[in-house]
Amino acid sequence: MIYFDNSATTLPNPEVVKVYGEVAQQYFGNPSSLHKLGSKAARLLAQSRQVAAESLGVLPDEIIFTSGGTESNNAALKGVAWQYRNRGKHIIISQVEHSSVYEAGKQLEEMGYTVTYVPVDDEGRVAPSTIEQAMRDDTILVSVMYVNNELGTVQPVKEIGDILSRYPKTLFHVDAVQGFGKLPVEPSRWGADLLSLSAHKFHGVRGVGLLYVRKGIRLSPLIIGGGQEEGRRSGTENLPGIVAMAKAMRMAKESLQRNREHMETLRHHLLSKLENFPGCRINGPQKNDSCAAPHIINFSFPGLKSEVVLHALEEKEIYLSTQSACSSRQFKPSRVLLAAGMDAERAGSSLRVSFSASNILEEVDRFMRVIEETIPNLAKIMRV
Ligand SMILES: Cc1ncc(COP(=O)(O)O)c(C=O)c1O
Repeated sequence: MIYFDNSATTLPNPEVVKVYGEVAQQYFGNPSSLHKLGSKAARLLAQSRQVAAESLGVLPDEIIFTSGGTESNNAALKGVAWQYRNRGKHIIISQVEHSSVYEAGKQLEEMGYTVTYVPVDDEGRVAPSTIEQAMRDDTILVSVMYVNNELGTVQPVKEIGDILSRYPKTLFHVDAVQGFGKLPVEPSRWGADLLSLSAHKFHGVRGVGLLYVRKGIRLSPLIIGGGQEEGRRSGTENLPGIVAMAKAMRMAKESLQRNREHMETLRHHLLSKLENFPGCRINGPQKNDSCAAPHIINFSFPGLKSEVVLHALEEKEIYLSTQSACSSRQFKPSRVLLAAGMDAERAGSSLRVSFSASNILEEVDRFMRVIEETIPNLAKIMRV
């Protein structure tokens, strides 16, 4: 099997799974319970918060544990919108945000907020000047992702943060779900006020993530109830998932440089082969290393529907994606690729390879051999 769908989800690291199991079995107490078992669990929760904070270079009480990227993004957008509605009702996001940001924007529009969806260039990149042009007196939030999950475009978050430092009434949220473990994630350096992560994208387990919220910022909570996470996110904490995520964060941080270089090597290797493959169009920023993430390559064989190629490759036990996993069952051309100016045919034939540090060069070569066998045959059948 060749698994090239790591932007959809990663295989949890065995050491992380072991920690998950140990905590689930041995520290099953509720961190809110006043007895000894509760205190032990609470201590473990505090340690995990410390590790997560250190991995991001922020303070422990700036971390809110959540159920993953979707919740973190919803909590950021709606939490800011509801909390600061008297300050203004205008929000800026990019046209290529993940659906958990994009759809939250749509929902806020239905609630009376105004959302500006800033356009991107043909590599899927947001120009910082477009953010500045969209700014209004009543703009309370700008949300721009770090790494685009479909094209692999790295957005100029530091430059956007620099611009926003001149607008003290506007908060800055970064969805860094696809960046952590692949590139440095530095909310303080970027001037980000809020930042989302999801553990299953960096070899943690499913159903856990975090939202960084800079000290002093208040959020209207998305989930209310027992007052856990200082009242910012109620619900009994997913302690095994949180401890496992902290472990995965530490591991990802420690091997970041090595992993990044390795995935970069894989990407360059695959790119050099695809570029020379007849009829293949590379989508996104791949020619430009400074704004391409190391792990994602998006390409099309115009004329061949993505699903057809995906299933043909699946028969050879090669797994990749047609677009973001959440939208890939919708069978319509990717909103993100259309926003980057691609026509419906190119967008409708797009494929995404996404690496993890466990992939190897031989897999890329094997993948290319299968492409060389499969694509010309499919092209013949489609022409008949
Ligand atoms: C950029 C981005 N943001 C958010 C999410 C949602 O994360 P989760 O699957 O943890 O809800 C994803 C998942 O694909 C993503 O790629």
